[in-house]
Amino acid sequence: EKGGYEHFMLKEIHEQPTALRDTLLPLINHQEGEAPSLREDMMPLGADEVRKIEHISILACGTASHAGLIGKAMIEKYARIPVDVDIGSEYRYRDPIVQPNTLFIVISQSGETADTIAALRDAQQKGATVLAITNVVGSTISREADKVIYTWAGPEIAVASTKAYISQLMVLYVLMLDFCLKRGKMDAAQVSGILGELLELPQKAQLILDQKDAVQKFAHQFFDREHAFYLGRGVDYSLAMEASLKLKEISYVHSEAYAAGELKHGTIALIEEGTLVVALATQDALFEKMLSNITEVKVRGAKVLALVNDGNHQIDNEVDYVWYLPPVSNMLAPMLAIIPMQLLAYYISLEKGCDIDKPRNLAKSVTVE
Ligand code: F6R
Repeated sequence: EKGGYEHFMLKEIHEQPTALRDTLLPLINHQEGEAPSLREDMMPLGADEVRKIEHISILACGTASHAGLIGKAMIEKYARIPVDVDIGSEYRYRDPIVQPNTLFIVISQSGETADTIAALRDAQQKGATVLAITNVVGSTISREADKVIYTWAGPEIAVASTKAYISQLMVLYVLMLDFCLKRGKMDAAQVSGILGELLELPQKAQLILDQKDAVQKFAHQFFDREHAFYLGRGVDYSLAMEASLKLKEISYVHSEAYAAGELKHGTIALIEEGTLVVALATQDALFEKMLSNITEVKVRGAKVLALVNDGNHQIDNEVDYVWYLPPVSNMLAPMLAIIPMQLLAYYISLEKGCDIDKPRNLAKSVTVE
């Protein structure tokens, strides 16, 4: 049942190229020799509905909310629609203000998370349209939402979410492209170009998986740390949150995700000789700033692992280890950058002998508050 892998988590990490492909293909027209395009019949909202949106609220819990943060960054940057992201358990008790023409997007792998369902119901009661992104056909969320768009990650058994997260990102990118097209922020050729890049992601994800031994070696050296910090700016900060959650939930290493620029407002006090710092630096526009944050932690003795783009050697002499992503645009980098982070958490947990697929005190689907 684990297909030859030692754990479901490792199997599911390896299923990500397939999950990306299976989630993308139903949403696009893609014939040999033709430019790919979005399939209008698969898009959840018509052109008039998309043009009317003034505001988007994304609601989710845990890993799904981290996918939502990347979705926010993409939709705001390219489609120019304001987006906020809320976790279900906070949203539902706040008596939130629902502005007219707000689109709600709920994200849930299981479709059964109690706090997400409660938030969905609250939004509907206030008259909003709710679009769900879920992995389970027939789940409560799929039945109650006004519109549904599925991730096709297949059953996710390990408690730590991996292939569901990456599939949620894929759907959010497709939605972003659809919004851009319908609101005149991109033309068909631009959308087609990006779809072409999305189609290449599975193969690039595979390249990362093929190098997993390097991640394992690193994990072997650093699994005994008590603390880890994940630093990033922009989407790399959102990614840091997901990377940090993966590590703490399966390996019980205390870790924090920090906006790199915020470090010097307090937390840098915790960086000492040997502290493990993972620096995510995939965004060109923010690279110089990341570099100076990396120097700040290096001089305090941190052991730094940096994740950068293919061909970026500016950091080679500044840090202890560097991982290079396969060639990918800044826009799509998050979908690849998460994979080495999942592997890192996995191998640290393995070194520590933890119960990787069933970490203590956690349930796969949180159907109680
Ligand atoms: C972390 C993890 C959880 C879930 C969260 C929401 O690896 O799996 O944080 O993401 O409980 O679950 P769903 O997506 O089923 O609503």
